[in-house]
Amino acid sequence: MTIRTHILTGITTTGTPHLGNYAGVIRPAIIASQDANTDSFYFLADYHALIKCNDPQRTKNSRMQIAATWLACGLDVNKVTFYRQSDIPEILELTWLLTCIASKGLLNRAHAYKASVDRNIENGEDQDAGISMGLYSYPVLMAADILMFNAHKVLVGRDQIQHIEMARDIGQRFNHLFGKGKECFTIPEALIENSVATLPGLDGRKMSKSYGNTIPLFTGAKDMMDAILRIVTDSSAPGKAKNPDSSHLFTLFQAFASKTQKEEFRAELLQGLSWSEAKNRLFQLLDCHLGEARERYHQLMSRPSDMEDFLLLGAKKARAVAIPFLAEIREAVGICSFVKQTVIPIEAKRNPIKVAHFVSFRENDGSFRFRLLAADGEQLLLSCKFVDGKAANAGIKHLQSGNTLDLRIEATTFSVWLSDVMVACSATFADNTSRDMAITSLRVALASIENYQAKN
Ligand code: TRP
Repeated sequence: MTIRTHILTGITTTGTPHLGNYAGVIRPAIIASQDANTDSFYFLADYHALIKCNDPQRTKNSRMQIAATWLACGLDVNKVTFYRQSDIPEILELTWLLTCIASKGLLNRAHAYKASVDRNIENGEDQDAGISMGLYSYPVLMAADILMFNAHKVLVGRDQIQHIEMARDIGQRFNHLFGKGKECFTIPEALIENSVATLPGLDGRKMSKSYGNTIPLFTGAKDMMDAILRIVTDSSAPGKAKNPDSSHLFTLFQAFASKTQKEEFRAELLQGLSWSEAKNRLFQLLDCHLGEARERYHQLMSRPSDMEDFLLLGAKKARAVAIPFLAEIREAVGICSFVKQTVIPIEAKRNPIKVAHFVSFRENDGSFRFRLLAADGEQLLLSCKFVDGKAANAGIKHLQSGNTLDLRIEATTFSVWLSDVMVACSATFADNTSRDMAITSLRVALASIENYQAKN
């Protein structure tokens, strides 16, 4: 049996899709979805959008625009599972289960969160000013998106690689804690579209909404032309040779051209094509590549109820996977129906052999003590009072460490010392023989604890 590859990606619905989204994610995702051995899960990350945007109108517009973009570019909703994150409540439920095991230290290291903290510090503000729990937990929600569908490959831009690593980390931790030797979750890998790993924007930096250097995909031919006219070039005059390899206009052209088109354009630049003609060529190329899709986009945007139907169908397909899978995950963590459950007393399960052990407790006056109990429950030592639990634990640790015991005998009692401070003392015994028997029991108990710890 061949294992089908699950490929997954999401786009955060905070803006209008641009050429970079198309070349980096949408186009390669649609091509990948055509492979007969893959199952594709593509979605609108609208819960992620709320982290960055609290303008409802913008969220609404962007959800529709991104949905229309996927469909206009040729996504076949019968072949793939295409859905809105917010239509799958199971994703949020899984987010909580993962939040409970994701380590805070891991999330402290997330680039987006760290960048916000650094900005605050630079501006002399409180380091958490304006940082929501949503921003902080962003990678956990993303891990839930990915792990829910057991994605093998996650198609993302380079800036998202850290998030995929975090999803791997969280998935591995869950498998380790709850998997009982088998994998609950598939551990995902990042898939980067290398040919356009970073599509340059108008100014040559990575095309990105946050730099304001994007070329809009479908808003209209005029918008696209206006953006292209703003592409920064060097100042070589018409008729002078242009170096294609140092021109991001050429890089943009390449991302959409056939081999012949590329070679022709290169030759023309070398022969001194003017920049304004070069911009025209790029517009022609993009318009030819995207013109029909642009029409479909505008048709789709004018019929929102058709898109709603497509997405509800997608949600149904996604939930058919998510609901039973989440039930397994809930069961793995111990949240399941009473009817199925067999009650295993936890203590018995954890401590199948009775062993000597320490118990610490708090006195009414607020001080801390511990007792050492033998395997049969008999008290072997009672500690002195400690000011806090930490000091009491340090005493226990020392006794468990296997160091030579500083044991002092006084009449029919004995006591245990640590750096010339008494930490615990025995009861008063009837005679020396009972006292010595107790000392033997104490040594046996301590040795057994040490042994037990070494084995477990
Ligand atoms: N964080 C991604 C971005 O901003 C969007 C996203 C959310 C995503 N969940 C995902 C991408 C799961 C891949 C897989 O680009």
